Amino acid sequence: MTEGLLSIADLGAEGIQRVLELAEACQEISERPIPKVPTLRGKTVATLFFENSTRTRLSFETAAKRLSADTMTFTAATSSLTKGESLRDTVETLDAMGVDAMVIRHPSSGAPAQVANWVRASVINAGDGQHEHPTQALLDCYTIRHSLGLATGSDFAGLRVTIVGDVRHSRVARSNVAALSLLGAKITLVAPRTLLPPSLEGWPVVATSDLDATLAETDVCYLLRLQAERMVGPLIPDLDEYARRFGLHRHRAERLPKDALILHPGPMNRGIEIDDDVTDLDRTVIVDQVRNGVAVRMAVLYLLLGVPGALGADRAVDEVQTMNGAERG
Ligand code: CP
Repeated sequence: MTEGLLSIADLGAEGIQRVLELAEACQEISERPIPKVPTLRGKTVATLFFENSTRTRLSFETAAKRLSADTMTFTAATSSLTKGESLRDTVETLDAMGVDAMVIRHPSSGAPAQVANWVRASVINAGDGQHEHPTQALLDCYTIRHSLGLATGSDFAGLRVTIVGDVRHSRVARSNVAALSLLGAKITLVAPRTLLPPSLEGWPVVATSDLDATLAETDVCYLLRLQAERMVGPLIPDLDEYARRFGLHRHRAERLPKDALILHPGPMNRGIEIDDDVTDLDRTVIVDQVRNGVAVRMAVLYLLLGVPGALGADRAVDEVQTMNGAERG
């Protein structure tokens, strides 16, 4: 298998730090009047989304274009999948066209890992079922570090992160628990028992159903959407009751410490897990998450396609600084 990014465990703490540091350089590129460098000229990045997306798909495509890669967009609904073609035949077809990276979102947990066994291209998991969404966690870590003014390379030791909502069905929660804990954060999950995983054995977290009791001891409040598309049967008795107990309303947000951040991966269900007037607060950094997602995905593409082997080696950051400096001149 060619190197790819299937889960946060592929990176470890050192790999996460490498991506975040490289993303700083990519952010600088994104802020230029012409936000484009020739680094991945000649490479082709294909996005294959078997499940809907706004943020992840468009930011990967933007990231690839800013690095001058060619892009290819596969759309399941207009493909030969509708004629019965298999996932394997589909990805092998794209691979035969000379694709260098496949960015895959799929409703089945493990689908990108399976694809990685079939193709030569690097496979990037853009969200698989309720398993993982590693680039979301990376952009969240980047956003937290920047929004709190933490130095490049610093860890999150002592940072108290509260993740609220439908953890059970959330690939975002799984990747964030993995990434944040590798960086040293203390994580509390807040959810009704039915929206926690059946077992939390091995999860480096504490869990509670009392959101109000956690607010004063939260540095980062991370809200999750109720993922109705992955629920089997009714897991909450009443949506209004859920919003009352687990929604972040203005009066709850005011009880967070004054520098605490509010994050949400999107798409949001306004009025359920987050209220309109909370999305407008200065401490709510949801738009920054989206903006930073482009830089973080540029970093991931560069590490996979620009510096062979760099996701598991030490030289990538030096090389991108060279890239950045050289291409300015
Ligand atoms: N956060 C996230 O994955 O959003 P999309 O489903 O819009 O890609």
